Amino acid sequence: MNTSNPFLISGYQSPNEFCDRESETDRIREAIHNGRNLTLISWRRMGKTGLIHHTFHLMGKEKDLSFFYVDLLPTLSLADFIREFSKAVIGKLDSPTSKIIKK
Ligand SMILES: Nc1ncnc2c1ncn2[C@@H]1O[C@H](COP(=O)(O)OP(=O)(O)O)[C@@H](O)[C@H]1O
Ligand SMILES: [Mg+2]
Repeated sequence: MNTSNPFLISGYQSPNEFCDRESETDRIREAIHNGRNLTLISWRRMGKTGLIHHTFHLMGKEKDLSFFYVDLLPTLSLADFIREFSKAVIGKLDSPTSKIIKK
């Protein structure tokens, strides 16, 4: 990251800029390994999204796992849902050609 501000105000960069949350990260990891659904509830800007991205980043190297982040808040219909869901999944596929084919 090329800004001079060490305090991020948006998005997730890397574990270097992410503080603490070790036990929370472990709990999410454990839920994923055990196939459990999990709900994070807090006021906004408490770090839910960051925590999810952080856990995905740390677990990203584990084999047989793929991670997709989909924000469903702006979806108002099944068509919206399908568009957002496929955008998230297809966006992760490797080559532009395979993206077009899958779409
Ligand atoms: N553990 C953390 N260490 C450093 N910055 C954090 C941490 N958790 C959240 N942030 C920062 O705080 C801001 C709000 O976090 P965010 O995950 O978007 O909150 P929420 O999803 O709960 O609204 C973001 O800029 C994020 O980068
Ligand atoms: Mg959020």
